[in-house]
Amino acid sequence: MTTIGVALGDRAYPILIEPGLLARAGDHLAPLARGRPVVIVADANVRPHLATLEASLRAAGVPSAAVTVPAGEGAKSWASLERLCDRLLDLGVERGDHLVALGGGVTGDLVGFAASILKRGCSFVQIPTTLLAQVDSSVGGKTGINAGAGKNLIGAFHQPRLVLIDPQVLDTLPPRELRAGYAEVVKYGLIDDSDFFGWCEANGPALLAGDADARAHAIARSVAAKARIVAADEHETTGLRALLNLGHTFGHALEAEAGFDGTLLHGEAVAAGCALAFRYSVRRGLCAAIDAERVAAHLRAVGLPDGLAGVTATGARLVDHMRHDKKASGGVLPFLLARGIGGTFLDRGVDLGDVAAFLDAEPR
Ligand code: GLY
Repeated sequence: MTTIGVALGDRAYPILIEPGLLARAGDHLAPLARGRPVVIVADANVRPHLATLEASLRAAGVPSAAVTVPAGEGAKSWASLERLCDRLLDLGVERGDHLVALGGGVTGDLVGFAASILKRGCSFVQIPTTLLAQVDSSVGGKTGINAGAGKNLIGAFHQPRLVLIDPQVLDTLPPRELRAGYAEVVKYGLIDDSDFFGWCEANGPALLAGDADARAHAIARSVAAKARIVAADEHETTGLRALLNLGHTFGHALEAEAGFDGTLLHGEAVAAGCALAFRYSVRRGLCAAIDAERVAAHLRAVGLPDGLAGVTATGARLVDHMRHDKKASGGVLPFLLARGIGGTFLDRGVDLGDVAAFLDAEPR
């Protein structure tokens, strides 16, 4: 078992990582439940995992109830949030109780936000079942739903009490989703850990093909990086946590252009966005071309997008999507650029007209 702590004072919590952990989750939830029932909120895609979790709670003598929410980005809506909160109130959830979010990033974000507002805040535990949720969204307490005006515009920082990560659940994840989540793993190497990027180049294909040790190593290293960054800048005020958005500004524009309808997965957009951020850094004279080519070559090698292939939108249109990014402030959109692999930094002086010209010059 690997245990990684998120050092947030009285809101500190552990992240436990171990193959097969889901079947033993009851043992870890029992001390939190203290005899009260645990309410599991799961999406429709994870029914087999729900059965495993319920059995482990029964074995640990913890009563439980299960609530199902729809799978997919559409579940991060006011309507789903209202239905979920009403259901939780019907079940008699109390402030000291623990909700368990079992599923991917959508479920974690929705359940975490419900936990943050239900009875002015109750506790929750994350049991992420996708690689993306395991290495990114289940850690750090960003919770929320989407609004008509954009993704994740309604939400709260609300830290979980515990995160349980079972790499074995990835065995049943569709390969495309696994690959998309892997983009967020690569991202940690690109941010500030060039050795880890080298590890990804050597081991990424094996990880995607099912190598259990490679998966466990990549998850632990990614989570340790995220825990360190979140502990230092929980509310994204110093700019450190913003580094986790590498690839997200370009990626968000591609997702918005695709219509957030699943034709382009979030991780795929992040992959393309990382490659674009590196190439844009080369254009600005900040980064050696060979580093940008190395990033793109690794993404291509594992079957992830490395740029704008198939995208017909003009640079101006893509930049227009970026202007609606929630990170924009006072007309300035902070960009994550790189001085090299492992050398990501925040640049508040990017000229969006130049970004549009760069995108127009990119191969399609
Ligand atoms: N996914 C970016 C963050 O948690 O800050």
